[in-house]
Amino acid sequence: MMGACKTVTLLTAVTAAVLAVYVYTSLPPDVTEPGKVVMFKAVFVTFSLIGSAYEKMGFGERADFFRKIGLKPAFLVSDSNLEVTDSSFSGVQVRIYRPQLQEGAGGGKMAGLVYFHGGGWVLSSVYAYDLLVGRIAQGTGAVVVSVEYRKAPEHKFPIPFEDCLTATQHFLQLASEYGVDPTRIGVAGDSSGGNLAAAVALRLKKDDKKKFPPLKLQALIYPALQAFDFQTPSWARGHSVYVNLPANLMIGFWIKYLNNNMSLVETFSNNGHTAALKKSRFASFVDRHFLDESVPRSTPDEDARVDLPDDIKDILNPYFSPLMAEDADLSGLPNTFVTVCGTDVLRDDGIMYAKRLEMAGVQVQLVRYPSGFHGIMSMDLALKHFEFEMGKQMLHELVTYVRKLL
Ligand SMILES: *[C@@H]1O[C@H](CO)[C@@H](O)[C@H](O)[C@H]1NC(C)=O
Repeated sequence: MMGACKTVTLLTAVTAAVLAVYVYTSLPPDVTEPGKVVMFKAVFVTFSLIGSAYEKMGFGERADFFRKIGLKPAFLVSDSNLEVTDSSFSGVQVRIYRPQLQEGAGGGKMAGLVYFHGGGWVLSSVYAYDLLVGRIAQGTGAVVVSVEYRKAPEHKFPIPFEDCLTATQHFLQLASEYGVDPTRIGVAGDSSGGNLAAAVALRLKKDDKKKFPPLKLQALIYPALQAFDFQTPSWARGHSVYVNLPANLMIGFWIKYLNNNMSLVETFSNNGHTAALKKSRFASFVDRHFLDESVPRSTPDEDARVDLPDDIKDILNPYFSPLMAEDADLSGLPNTFVTVCGTDVLRDDGIMYAKRLEMAGVQVQLVRYPSGFHGIMSMDLALKHFEFEMGKQMLHELVTYVRKLL
């Protein structure tokens, strides 16, 4: 009885949310599959409301709620073209996806890709991403390593980053044990995973040049790259127009990763945290000029302040926010693929990073999906019936790029 009652309540809530979202949401006019987007947003809004209620009633944080309801995707073992094994890379849990060689493909070494899943450094897992990463392995023909880095807020920066770095170094060092050519290894990730991939690429290029072969590529799918300016045009718009990543939720993820002091959300959302650094060179790394060249470029003041209080100073650390890297550290990075979505608060992060990399002489392919939304490539992992055509296309572009450049 109780189960039926709960189901009815949930259905009523979802129906109400569908209607509310339908009435109040302004989707971009060119959005593809608008009905599905509205349905998806309604489900998202409903779960967010339940999550907030859960938090207000003192059961725990909203993030815990999302962790509890969990994501239970179809597992891939039925796929005979992939061999899937769980392992530990220098203490970091990983799942390895090895496509079975086609007959006649020869015994040559394969390419390798290290994948970092999204989820705001807080949510999701290798398990939840099983289907997506399996598809990437099948599509690219590369051995793909999916990394179970530890999550915030229990494990704040730099732990998730260091786990990703450790796993990547392990793979680079012992590639041949996995039948992989160490000179053909790339990193990739979506959302916070894109942040981790960019950070690992920066770190390997800067400090480990001699110890490991350089990475062959980095693929960043709607990545989160900076916590300095939450008022860029896409951020400013994202307070009202979004599908599944409202600005405050994303700022909350940044804070959980940084120091878990949630009372900072409001200050961050109006850029109060970096107001004193407006004339610093860091501000010039997040310059509107990169989005619209008719906007004059800002010139940093040599004497400007360039530090932040201890509890938030990692905002200026490029391994926390890769867009804070100096030009010299960007140059020499591997070939880069960046995907951005038009209605995503993170759109400008991706565009700015792509522009700065290009200016630093890196080969960049920036793919824009003007009517796309955050997370569209992997929505069906969370909710079975929400596979979007644009998400499939995005995955196809990623796979094509990796095949070509790895
Ligand atoms: C959280 O941030 C606020 C605002 O900066 C500060 O007053 C407070 O001391 C911080 N709390 C902790 C536990 O650091």
